[in-house]
Amino acid sequence: MIDLNRFDQVYVHQSQFPEKVYQDYLESFQTKKINHKFHYDSVKQSQKWLKLHQAYSPAKNSDAVVLTYSQCFQKVSTIAANDLSIEVIGLGCGGGDKDRELLSFLENKSKALTYYPLDVSLSLALISAHKAKRLLPEIAVWPVVCDLLSADDLISNFSANQGESHKIITFFGMIPNFLPTEILPILSNFLTAGDTLLMSANLAPGKDYLGGIEQVLPQYDNELTRDWLMTILLDAGINPADGEIKFEIQGDSTISGLDLKRINASFQVRKSIHWTLDGRSVEWQEGDQVQLFFSYRYTSNRLQAVLQQYRLNILDYWEDDNQEEGVYLIAKI
Ligand SMILES: C[S@@+](CC[C@H](N)C(=O)[O-])C[C@H]1O[C@@H](n2cnc3c(N)ncnc32)[C@H](O)[C@@H]1O
Repeated sequence: MIDLNRFDQVYVHQSQFPEKVYQDYLESFQTKKINHKFHYDSVKQSQKWLKLHQAYSPAKNSDAVVLTYSQCFQKVSTIAANDLSIEVIGLGCGGGDKDRELLSFLENKSKALTYYPLDVSLSLALISAHKAKRLLPEIAVWPVVCDLLSADDLISNFSANQGESHKIITFFGMIPNFLPTEILPILSNFLTAGDTLLMSANLAPGKDYLGGIEQVLPQYDNELTRDWLMTILLDAGINPADGEIKFEIQGDSTISGLDLKRINASFQVRKSIHWTLDGRSVEWQEGDQVQLFFSYRYTSNRLQAVLQQYRLNILDYWEDDNQEEGVYLIAKI
């Protein structure tokens, strides 16, 4: 007989079943575009990411940024004051600290509170679940492992459980790492009228957009980030001497009429590499740039313009004085 006190139940969506993950993995190497979900996959990677997040994230290091989150959560707790049942769905929950803080604002003995920490990484979904349970042992916590980019059916799965609950979806620190044209249709589809979406974005500080991005570049171009991003390549058998990681600021034209930029990290191949992954030939030539990671830097106006195209409306927002990070309260139009 299984002692349930020693086990956690985790829901794994089919988007993260091993065959699918392995196909995505092979494709990443063949197309020279590493799907960023593979930077969080293993325990080693998630621990490296948590360490660099601790070192560089304004949400960890700036009291002013922490305050913006608290102000948002205070407002949400007012909006949800009369709800009898709330479901918090943490999309890309990471280490779960922001979701946990939100839960502490929502917790109230007369409410039924359920938390779904959802992440592509099992390790991070469990870390978030455990933190929430330690803080609020009485709430229901159901960790979910899922690749949001391959989970169009996710909404129907949650709706089936939802009943009369107020759905509060968090999407903290996520929007910068996805192509807006890929993730926003999925996110918009996930929401129905009456749901609350909370999002945060890394911003470009100040009035000079490009100058602001240059100012935050050292938060990315540093040894902890290089070490984290190299892990997938080293694990695949690539030698550090085969190339180097370069960071640059790139323009993006996927949203027409909007000057949107991102910080991009690529592996610049110095020495041609040819190897076989599961019978598939992978060839990287000298001079190739292998896409590793990007982070869009928004301003609140730019974010509003992008979201509107997907029927998502910012109802309220909070920025810290240095404009490093913005937190947004959003509803579906
Ligand atoms: C920048 S972190 C943000 C974490 C957390 N929300 C926070 O604000 O601290 C990005 C998170 O998204 C997760 N992630 C990346 N790609 C994903 C995908 N395709 N589907 C679901 N989660 C993903 C990563 O594992 C990681 O936890």
